[in-house]
Amino acid sequence: MAHTPLLAKPHTFYVRPAPGWLDLLEGEATQILESPLQKYKFVPKISYLQGVVKVHRCDWRQGLELLFRTTIAHDMEWLVSEFSCGSWSDLEKGLARTRWAEILPENVKTAHIAVNLHQGFTSGTAKLRTLFCNLTGIGHSTGEDEQRIKCELRGNRFRILISMAGRPLYQRGYKTVLSAIAPLPEHHAAACVRWVMGDPHKSAPVKNIYIPFAGSGTLGFETLLVLSGAGVGAFDRSFACESFPFNSRATLAFLRKRISQQLKHIKPTPTVVWNDINSQAIQDLQKNIDGFPAPAHHQVESGDFFQFLPNFSGSDPILLLLNPPYGDRLAKKTVPTRLFSQIGKQINIIFEKYKGQLRVGCICPDEMTWRAVISNVPSEKSETRHFTHGGKDMRLVRWGSVE
Ligand SMILES: C[S@@+](CC[C@H](N)C(=O)[O-])C[C@H]1O[C@@H](n2cnc3c(N)ncnc32)[C@H](O)[C@@H]1O
Repeated sequence: MAHTPLLAKPHTFYVRPAPGWLDLLEGEATQILESPLQKYKFVPKISYLQGVVKVHRCDWRQGLELLFRTTIAHDMEWLVSEFSCGSWSDLEKGLARTRWAEILPENVKTAHIAVNLHQGFTSGTAKLRTLFCNLTGIGHSTGEDEQRIKCELRGNRFRILISMAGRPLYQRGYKTVLSAIAPLPEHHAAACVRWVMGDPHKSAPVKNIYIPFAGSGTLGFETLLVLSGAGVGAFDRSFACESFPFNSRATLAFLRKRISQQLKHIKPTPTVVWNDINSQAIQDLQKNIDGFPAPAHHQVESGDFFQFLPNFSGSDPILLLLNPPYGDRLAKKTVPTRLFSQIGKQINIIFEKYKGQLRVGCICPDEMTWRAVISNVPSEKSETRHFTHGGKDMRLVRWGSVE
């Protein structure tokens, strides 16, 4: 019996968020799917499934668009196959039905194969992986393979998922220099920006951005990305799915072009003031700014945040985003609560200067530093939310007048 070509079928994708940002990812995915850049064959549906956003009945090409336009996702997986599986022989039959030759490029001999088993007929992870490798002819590799395959057995359902991204989506590829200090991963930064900005349809467009403690610049670059409405496909990185043999080359080329153009058209052109005390960080930041494709007026200020006040003209909204140092990044003898309390006071000074214009988001690494900040914020209501970074419970507090 002839198969329906893969491009002509509806597909299911699992979109995985930066940890702690599922609701925001759902909002982002909905917005992307409801504003398609071209016509698609099916109308996709969104639902939640154990910490992921599940998109079903989706045109393959629209799946590509979602991948290229997301900013908050960590990965997007394509559900290649799903079948009922209560024994080794069910597994063998199911794997034999999967159209591997159409899915993976001929030259793929190895992939990273993850196995997740939960209350199924077996708990033998190693045995299952070996069988999968024998039946598919794909070897398991723990290296930096572009192809990542997941085998999941939950009860009697067996699923095979392939990563559309390959390398995680926070690896954007826009930084010329990666700072020695571990920065906030890009997808977390994008989520922080989105949450602090609130609903872009309700707020006045952000014209001014102030990024103290800038480091390699992640928060500032992700702000420009979010303002442009583009996504990870705007940058010079590859995606594992680009090598799938059945893929639509025309759609890939169209999306690359459209989304990178979108990044170059932020209206109005924002002004970004960056600040860092470390001269090496400033040099690296400048190189990253020079290589970043979005338009902006940049002002880079080397020096102490507590000694500097930015100068924005006019009464346009200002977005102030802070990722202050913590843990190993703190200078010796610095008392974290004292530093964050000082930060709260300095933000008050900026508030006084720009009454009614300022929207602030400050990342706090724990409860003590968070308390130190919020005990100093102006009387306007502040809101806090939690996210997980490197296994650590982080807080992001937002407040201010722009909405
Ligand atoms: C947590 S890192 C920022 C990481 C940054 N978000 C990134 O993506 O690379 C903190 C940065 O604050 C800078 N810093 C520390 N104390 C400062 C101060 N008093 N004024 C300005 N910058 C400071 C450090 O040099 C460091 O680059």
